[in-house]
Amino acid sequence: MVSNTRGQFSSKFGFIMAAAGSAVGLGNVWGFPTKTASNGGGAFLVIYLVMVFLLAFPMLVAELTLGRYGQANPVSTLRSVWTKNKAVAGVMGLIAMVTSSFILSFYAIVAGWLVAYAFIPVFDVAGFHAVSEWLVNFSSERNVVLAVIFSLMNILVVQKGISNGIERWSTRLMPLLFILFAVMIIYIFTQPGAIEGLKMYLVPDFSQIHGGLMVDAMGQAFFSLSLGCSTMMVYGSYLQKDVNIPKTAAQVASIDTGVAFAAGLLILPAMFVAKNHGVDIFTDDGVLKSSGDLVFKVLPAMFDSMGGVGAVLSFGFFVLMVIAALTSSISLLEVPVSCAQDELKMNRTPATWVIGGVIMLISIVICLNFGTLFGLVADVTTVYMQPLLGAVWAVVVGWIWHRNKLLQELKHGYPDIESGLFWKIWPWYVRFICPVAIVMVFLYPMF
Ligand code: PHE
Repeated sequence: MVSNTRGQFSSKFGFIMAAAGSAVGLGNVWGFPTKTASNGGGAFLVIYLVMVFLLAFPMLVAELTLGRYGQANPVSTLRSVWTKNKAVAGVMGLIAMVTSSFILSFYAIVAGWLVAYAFIPVFDVAGFHAVSEWLVNFSSERNVVLAVIFSLMNILVVQKGISNGIERWSTRLMPLLFILFAVMIIYIFTQPGAIEGLKMYLVPDFSQIHGGLMVDAMGQAFFSLSLGCSTMMVYGSYLQKDVNIPKTAAQVASIDTGVAFAAGLLILPAMFVAKNHGVDIFTDDGVLKSSGDLVFKVLPAMFDSMGGVGAVLSFGFFVLMVIAALTSSISLLEVPVSCAQDELKMNRTPATWVIGGVIMLISIVICLNFGTLFGLVADVTTVYMQPLLGAVWAVVVGWIWHRNKLLQELKHGYPDIESGLFWKIWPWYVRFICPVAIVMVFLYPMF
């Protein structure tokens, strides 16, 4: 087989698992519970759900539709829609590509920590305590080694292509993740302290809502649904024509939001259970201590409290988390790789190694300057670039793309779309509300 022919997802289920695989990741299990815990619990949850439903979901439909229409990487796709200004279109595609590459560069570092936590119980059982000690403690060397290991895993999957690599892995592993989550939630609710965490999570304190929280919640929603940086556009380009895009997007958004919600159900109660076990989580005045490593402190404390079963569950949980991170990372790497395949006519394998290698070097630079670079790269790409690029795509779909072409594209998998409610609201909504709302959320904290 020629390795640079265009791949395709082989089934609807495979696509949903792959797109949900891209969406479900560190954002759900690490980002969402951490942000919820440090932003007043329930209040953040409510604003987050509003952001997903009102902004992220409509933009997911927009990105998938653009991608399937373009049948190409984001640079070509945007050029094919924005025909009057191909140069600007191309530059926007490139900015999205750079954004996804930088997201991957910091994502691989956190994912590397997950790899470490998966193997810590294994090294412990085997008696290699010095190794597990090294893996637990933060150091530049550890971060570099782990990020490199994770990056190589990512490259190995992406070089296999769409249906053999991305789809195969996502379909097998995503369902397993859901089951393990359910088991752990049931366990945590049997533990003393869990209800306190549940209250914090589900009873909103609206006095906590402020402009910064809205920006955070919007960024989190765009990050969690993999929007803005054109991953969903690329996945859309591998989507079969007979798929109903609004329905599929709704399924993907529901899975993603469901997993984020479930992660909150696990981690917020687990925080209080861990507190009962003497793990320091809050400062004296009740502020979350180190929000960054919540997952890496609270969950291990929970597993420790479970004895032998805990070690097995810990291994299972972190392995599945590595997989969730991997199915997201492959979608991030797929963006520049698809550009190199189509635009530079490179074969998939060398393109994946060269680009994956460059991003790995960026990860290493971040590891070596962790204090200055990590937060900066993460914030610029996810809090600002993803929503702002989302606003640009809303303008492209709402104002620049010929309405009839948009309709024809959506009709492929949804022939009677014009008679439904979706078509009465969505085009108008993406045109006016999405770009304005995204910009307003940014401006709001200034007033
Ligand atoms: N959505 C992924 C997560 O929640 C991260 C991601 C962001 C993946 C952007 C692709 C693009 O972890």
